[in-house]
Amino acid sequence: MSNTSPQSQTSQSQTWSQRFEAALHPAIARFNASIGFDIELIDYDLTGSQAHAKMLAHTGIISAAEGEQLVAGLEQIRQEYHQGNFNPGIEAEDVHFAVERRLTELVGEVGKKLHTARSRNDQVGTDTRLYLRDQIGQIRQQIQAFQSVMLGLAEQHIETLIPGYTHLQRAQPLSLAHHLLAYVEMTQRDWERLGDVYSRVDILPLGSGALAGTTFPIDRHYTAQLLDFGNVYANSLDGVSDRDFAIEFLCAASLIMVHLSRLSEEVILWASEEFGFVTLKDSCSTGSSIMPQKKNPDVPELVRGKTGRVFGHLQALLVLMKGLPLAYNKDLQEDKEALFDAVKTVQGCLEAMTILMQEGLEFRPTRLNAAVTEDFSNATDVADYLATKGVPFREAYNLVGKVVKTSLAAGKLLKDLSLTEWQAIHPAFASDIYEAIAPRQVVSARNSYGGTGFDRVRQALAAAQARLTQA
Ligand code: ARG
Repeated sequence: MSNTSPQSQTSQSQTWSQRFEAALHPAIARFNASIGFDIELIDYDLTGSQAHAKMLAHTGIISAAEGEQLVAGLEQIRQEYHQGNFNPGIEAEDVHFAVERRLTELVGEVGKKLHTARSRNDQVGTDTRLYLRDQIGQIRQQIQAFQSVMLGLAEQHIETLIPGYTHLQRAQPLSLAHHLLAYVEMTQRDWERLGDVYSRVDILPLGSGALAGTTFPIDRHYTAQLLDFGNVYANSLDGVSDRDFAIEFLCAASLIMVHLSRLSEEVILWASEEFGFVTLKDSCSTGSSIMPQKKNPDVPELVRGKTGRVFGHLQALLVLMKGLPLAYNKDLQEDKEALFDAVKTVQGCLEAMTILMQEGLEFRPTRLNAAVTEDFSNATDVADYLATKGVPFREAYNLVGKVVKTSLAAGKLLKDLSLTEWQAIHPAFASDIYEAIAPRQVVSARNSYGGTGFDRVRQALAAAQARLTQA
């Protein structure tokens, strides 16, 4: 044996075959190790190994008694870990070796049978999928909690008006509920998309072996049943080297972040002095260390900022995969930190945004009302008014353009024009024009399916509530 440190000698001689004579250089051991982050997978590794041990016993590859010993030993490691008594270091290399080694310490020689008919390649793929299945479930629940808060807010604000924008220019007034419900729809797609992704995470690679399958008479479908997987990989090479499921998850995660980030940006704008549509509550905003008047929207800013991380992880995995020959390559170890960080980021952001929307801000009806009364966002309705009186829409549109221009020059709003002024523009104008361009009427009249009319919004809200209850 070599003359390196006793610790690395031990780890080396325990881990690798007799082919290796010298231990890893300590710096290389650190470089190579994933235990620092893949310990996150320990519960899934234990569960996966327990199912594998049961399958080995079920198929007679090991005895029933051996199977039970392995399962019990693995359970003991779970307890040790959760009591804080199992803290493997670099010498273990990764969570899989750490568990196997501890198992052998606990149950003796039989521990060495656990890895029969298995490779770390199909093992790590299994762990990652078990992990992601759980996390997807949690994120989907969080999306529903977010939706429930948004629905509650929408319910309070059906008749609250807010300016609607295109190009960040005042366009047409909206029911605030309609605006909030747009985010319920977006996150509904996120929720559904995660369900789709789940179906492709829910495929078991275990039994693929290192890359080619195994000589043992294993029963992969039995293991899949024990672990509640919907399917097993049909091709062992694909099974050990596929990370599509992780990339797909990161796509879905990125879209969740896009949606949260857009809402964040709106809240940040709304909280500004210029908009003044919301006030931020103390529980969700922070002050400045130097400017005593400041109240900062840190939560939505952080969510907007963290969005980039998740996109980055998606990009990282795409690039990680694009040049990999089949089958397993150590590059694949790099998938984990990206995945873990994306999961934590999305979960953290969903939690924070839910709290922010639930109790961190208050809409300011006076400011909102002033905003929708003091602009030209009812101009389309003047054109629509003429169009319903038989004036072709394009002609009406041009006429109203002129009215806006002269009103702006005169410092007036459309509601300030006298009936004589209206009729000088077109004889079709009558006294009902004032009612037609009142903001509340403008909103209320847009009752097309999917529109902002109050009745439509009430229906949309009820539909979204029903969907959430049934989910
Ligand atoms: N720590 C490794 C990973 O995360 C486990 C699989 C190692 N497989 C191998 N052939 N070296 O990818």
